[in-house]
This record gives sequence, structure tokens and C-alpha cells, in this order.
Amino acid sequence: MDILGIETSCDETAAAIVRDGREVLSSVVYTQIPLHQPYGGVVPEVASRAHIEKISGVVAEAIKGGGKVDAVAVTYGPGLASSLLVGLNAAKGLSLALGVPLIGINHIEAHLHTPFLVDAAGLVPGVGMGPAPADMMPALGLAVSGGHTTWMDMPSYGEYRIIGQTLDDAAGEAFDKAAKLLDLGYPGGPVIDRWAKGFWNGVKDFSDAAALKALAYPVSIRLPEGLPRFPKGHPRAGTAALAGLDANLCVSFSGLKTALLYHVRQHPPADDAEKAGLVAAYQEAIVGTLADRTATALKRREYKALIVGGGVSLNGRLRARLAEVASAAGVPLLLAAPKYCGDNAAMIAGLAFCRRNLAGEAAFAVDVEPTLQPGDAGA
Ligand code: KG4
Ligand code: ZN
Repeated sequence: MDILGIETSCDETAAAIVRDGREVLSSVVYTQIPLHQPYGGVVPEVASRAHIEKISGVVAEAIKGGGKVDAVAVTYGPGLASSLLVGLNAAKGLSLALGVPLIGINHIEAHLHTPFLVDAAGLVPGVGMGPAPADMMPALGLAVSGGHTTWMDMPSYGEYRIIGQTLDDAAGEAFDKAAKLLDLGYPGGPVIDRWAKGFWNGVKDFSDAAALKALAYPVSIRLPEGLPRFPKGHPRAGTAALAGLDANLCVSFSGLKTALLYHVRQHPPADDAEKAGLVAAYQEAIVGTLADRTATALKRREYKALIVGGGVSLNGRLRARLAEVASAAGVPLLLAAPKYCGDNAAMIAGLAFCRRNLAGEAAFAVDVEPTLQPGDAGA
């Protein structure tokens, strides 16, 4: 079954065709990052206008290989209401015109489908599709992006129970805000990742982004004397209890951002090398917090896998730390290919197949739900 997926929840306009939930036949992502760069963050009005301009072309490109579309899947939340509306209306129109079911998909849940996506061209003989989602359950899921930092218990495939989350800023937001403060550009995560790699490799010139990207992190990392030890993002127990969650599985990144602000006010970095040291220390605080929480969550239940998705899972240092944590717990770490870490529509089409009974599922009543949580009733 070939499903057309559509994604417009934030600043990427995306469409994809995925066969039987796993095999990506096409995936087109138009990123609006350059449009938002001058503002240092996503401007909702600019985002929705750009989605309107691009959606037809992006969908046309995704389906240009021909073939039959058996269903249309679309993100209906969470995200920016005015952006979600563009994708949802396009999907409703296509579903009506093609006479196929419409399936509303939760964006955060879809991020956890990304490790199961395989490029049609990249199918490895003997390995094939890799493990099937259902065989990896129960799993611990971590969605870590610009809008979300959420740990989920997945008892079976398609079931999500939040067990921990950020009580304020998402990890990606913590990266983006720090980069803004230090004038490093937007989005902040990739720049901080590159500069931190440069720092650990003793680089002095931070102007060559491609060269920095190509570097690897050293195997063992210890913050040298003189760099600030930023506090881990551990929330106070009371605040987590208010959200009905265990404080040991929750994080809070707003204090970290303030600590960086105060540090920079008192000790403004003299040059790029000092700035790089600062972001390396800041990244260690975020990554260390995420790794600790994940290790704690893995002790709570016998899991078969750790599944991680979302834009921040591109971070090289986080990938390494999570690999250590998973190996200590004796579970495989399932990460997406880099091109499926950020927002894309293949994850929407893929999840739609894997968790749905498609019969009679023409969900035209579905509306956008900007604050949708994982595990909320499906559309
Ligand atoms: O999943 P995504 O594309 O969109 C949301 O659903 O939010 O994630 C975007 C976030 C941004 O905050 C960006 O700074 C962060 O992912 N990001 C990274 C890296 N690449 C992207 N954060 C840390 N290290 C990276 N290499
Ligand atoms: Zn996302």
C-alpha cells in the first residue's frame, strides 16, 4: 500500500510516498530556514504563507513518479495552527479528489517511526528492512526536537504513554536560544554541534562550516579547567508532580539558558575559540541531562529497544552518549538516518500504515490540534 504523507506543522513543507510503512519511494522537504533566519526563530505568519506557496509544488514532486496513492496521511498536531491548516486542507482536498482515506497523524509519534524508514534505493541485501517496529516492543521512545523533549513508554507499536518530558524549553530550543545569545545564527543546534566538535579537536578557525561538520568527536571527553560547569537540567520535584510526572524522568532547560546568559554577561567570550569552549560546555550539560534521564527510564522496565527521533537526534555528541546508555542497558539504539531526523513527511506516511486499520477511515472531521500530545486519541 502506497501512502502519501504531508507535513506542514512548523517550518518545513514536506510530502512523501511510503510503501507499506517502511519503504520510502519519494521524500521532498522544502525548508523555510532561510526565511526565518533574519528573525532568529520561526515567525508563524511567514511560515504559513510559505507553506501555501510551496505545498502544491512539493506534493506534485513527491507523486511525480506516478503510481497509485492508496491513502493520504497528514500531520494534524502538534504545531503552529496556521501552518498545520495548510497541510490539512491540502490533504483533505487530495483525499476527496482521489477518493482515498484521510489519516490524521501526531507529529511527535511520527518522529519515533523514523528509524524504521528505509530508502527504496538503499535496501541492503541480507539486511533488507531491518527490524520490524512490532518486534522491538516494548520500547522506550525519546522525541527530541525544537518543540519537544518527551520520553514515551511504547508497550506495543502505535501506543505511546508519556513518562517524562521537559517542563519548559525543549532541548532544541535550548540550543537555538544559546546560539542566538552568542550570535551564532539559526537554527542553533547544528552550529553548536559543529563548533563543539571543533573545540574538542583543537580547531582555531571556525569559519569553515563544512570542515567542522566533517570532524568526529573524540572518544573520551572531559571539560578542561576554566570552562563553566553548567547545571544539569534537573527540575524541582514539585514542578514535575504538578504535571503528574516523575521528576527523575523530567527535565527543565530554562535555568540552563539563564546560567549561560549570566556567564556571558560576566565573562564575554574574547574570541571564537572561547565561544566554542562555552558552547561545548553548554552542549555537555544538555546532552548529559538527556543521557541521564534516558538511562533512568531504561531501568524502569525491560525494554527491547531505545528509539530516538527528532531534529536534535542529529547531534553527534548526543548520538554517542545515547549509544553508551543503550549499550549499558543491553538494548539496541534505533536512530533515524540523518535525512529523516528533522521534519519530513515520510515519517507521517510510514506511521499511518503501521498503526492504522485503514478500513473506513475517511476522517474528514479531523481539525488541527496545535497542543496534541503523544498518546492522545487518533484522528
Ligand atoms: O525535528 P525538527 O526538525 O523540528 C521540530 O519538530 O522541532 O527539530 C529542529 C530542532 C532545532 O531546534 C535545531 O536546532 C535542532 O533540531 N537541531 C540540532 C541539530 N540539528 C538540528 N540540535 C543539536 N544538534 C544538531 N546537530
Ligand atoms: Zn519535528
